Amino acid sequence: MELPEAWQRAVVPPLPTTRSDIVDEFARTIYGRTPTGGEVTELVLRSRDDGVLDGAADRLRHHAVIACPLGNLELDTLTHLPSGASDAPVVVVLNFKGNDETIEAWPYAKATAAGYAVLTVDYQQIEPDDPAPSAAGVRALFPAETWGAVAAWAWGLSRLLDIAGRISGIDTVGAVVLGHSRLGKAALWAGVQDERFAVTAANSSGCCGAALFRHPAGEDIAAITSRFPHWFVPSFAAYAGRENDLPVDQHQLLTSIAPRRVAVTSAEDDAWADPIGEYLAVVAARPSFAPNAIGYHLRPGGHDLLEEDWLYVLDFVRKLVD
Ligand code: GCU
Repeated sequence: MELPEAWQRAVVPPLPTTRSDIVDEFARTIYGRTPTGGEVTELVLRSRDDGVLDGAADRLRHHAVIACPLGNLELDTLTHLPSGASDAPVVVVLNFKGNDETIEAWPYAKATAAGYAVLTVDYQQIEPDDPAPSAAGVRALFPAETWGAVAAWAWGLSRLLDIAGRISGIDTVGAVVLGHSRLGKAALWAGVQDERFAVTAANSSGCCGAALFRHPAGEDIAAITSRFPHWFVPSFAAYAGRENDLPVDQHQLLTSIAPRRVAVTSAEDDAWADPIGEYLAVVAARPSFAPNAIGYHLRPGGHDLLEEDWLYVLDFVRKLVD
């Protein structure tokens, strides 16, 4: 059969095929390049309450200093640890509203009863979530890098793991990175880049998270880059309305985590995060993973990180460990 003339003239751009080319392409097109560096130089225990949460967990607050090329970043972390733990695996997770708010909102008692330590910090201590921030975040502490706020939060997740490694009672082997929504996008990018994370869990991460760009539903590139230009490299906005021209799609972000494990969780009524697009990314990525190394969970309800999401993730993590 004769090909149409336009097809014969078409130049198909080479698509990335190796893992490192794919990761480079995500960095170049969407998230930006994460600089190397940023070292935890001080970790001071500010307070320790033993036997909280029905006597089974210890609550620790630390102040961390992270030396970066142009200055220090300071973080106030909150850690819950199973009482008497000597080698608890850790879940690192950024929070939206400050450490204290998580004490009521997250099922710490169940996580520690399952043997996990949980370490969190307010994400805006790492990088303000503002296109024109009045205070500087970590991106101001590295010279001449182009990386968006999502990548800066991902960098922060790796520093949380460094901090966890200095807390007695925690063993960073088997570490889990978890995030919700914009912080789910950051968790995925952290999981791709930092191979110390044995499990990556992204809850309702949506556009630029687990949802396929080429599944046209929910938030799209035009919407995300006009409201949140600071999350990505500036040139990403040029793909607004041109999803099909992107050199990558989000199932490849998931496959970049293989053979390590990844869990994607969505909510039925969370149309903005496109749960179907998230599911389709998992289906497309599945051949790159061992059968139990990729999981998908859909629950009723809306956009939130609920106890049910936590429990699915903890159960997913445990399945290969037991
Ligand atoms: C907005 C944004 C999403 C993001 C969400 C959140 O809805 O459009 O991309 O995931 O905020 O972080 O809650």
